[in-house]
Amino acid sequence: MIGKTDDPVGARLGPLAVLAICAGTLTAQADLSLERGTYLVEGPAACGNCHTPKGPDGPVPGMFLAGMLVEKNDAFTAIAANITPGSRVADWSDADLVRAIREGIRPDGSVIGPPMPIGLYRGLSDDDVMSIVMYLRQVPAVDNDAGMSVYNIPLPPAYGPPIESVSAPETGVTAAYGAYLAGPVAHCIECHTTFGPQGPMFDTHLGAGGFAFHGPWGTSVAPNITPTGLSGYSDQELDGMIRQGVRPDGAPMMPPMPYAELSRMTDDDLAAILLYLREMAPLPDGG
Ligand code: HEC
Ligand code: HEC
Repeated sequence: MIGKTDDPVGARLGPLAVLAICAGTLTAQADLSLERGTYLVEGPAACGNCHTPKGPDGPVPGMFLAGMLVEKNDAFTAIAANITPGSRVADWSDADLVRAIREGIRPDGSVIGPPMPIGLYRGLSDDDVMSIVMYLRQVPAVDNDAGMSVYNIPLPPAYGPPIESVSAPETGVTAAYGAYLAGPVAHCIECHTTFGPQGPMFDTHLGAGGFAFHGPWGTSVAPNITPTGLSGYSDQELDGMIRQGVRPDGAPMMPPMPYAELSRMTDDDLAAILLYLREMAPLPDGG
């Protein structure tokens, strides 16, 4: 059973889901399917990077997507909610979940705050966001209350106008598909764009880096990933850094870049992202 189907979005899931599962669709194919949802969530979309509690040895066993404290600063205490079927989302329809993920609005009308990258998730295609929902419906239910976020800053009433539909981009080893992966899917550019008072400055500092992350690992700074920052690296070296979290000199890289999830990214998807990064406007280091 895949959620409630009392809406046009949810209604599409039923028969298509069955078809996709029978056909044994390949993981990186961008069709609406559980396989696609599995690939996205366990791979490049890496929802668990924020939503799965971590201990000293990594993700806490048996707590996949069960909610955790993501960030505590003067502006907010952000807790990424439990999004397993053991949480309140079990009562949400598929359309409710789609709206929460892609527009940042819950069924009760409240707005989801940062750092959930809603601005980018607005670009997720209908098929991809519905594949993600299909996947969330079948992860083990975990009974865990991770607590409520507190925002001392005003949240926007919405992140933009209501979204009717986002058509699926053409997949392939192209810079255009790489832009979709590095943006709406894997939100590389959320972390790697210089932050201003309103969040990442996509218009002026896209990919220029400079944001500092503090955690048990100390401080890591997201580097410039425009050609200014990356031109000295071969594709193979970039692959090592992105999919293995290892620098060309063998040194391990620091969190919170989700290396484990990115390691599951297909060769084609990585190649598309590299094409996109190589074509970005070169910018000086942000910070
Ligand atoms: C960078 C961190 C981050 C990532 C990545 C992230 N989230 Fe979130 N998410 C959050 C935070 C923080 C909240 C809670 C914000 C609040 O309390 O207003 C949240 C809230 C949610 C909610 C609302 C739950 C509720 O009960 O209110 C859903 C649904 C959700 N996320 C799904 C996802 C999915 C699916 C993905 C992957 C495609 C994802 N998130 C990726 C940080 C993240
Ligand atoms: C949650 C934030 C986050 C996300 C998402 C993220 N990164 Fe990173 N990235 C970082 C941080 C922080 C570092 C620095 C790590 C270190 O210094 O050890 C980094 C390092 C890198 C580097 C090494 C650059 C250099 O010059 O050292 C590359 C390349 C890179 N990221 C590309 C990507 C790509 C491509 C994606 C998306 C598929 C991505 N990142 C997603 C935070 C992120």
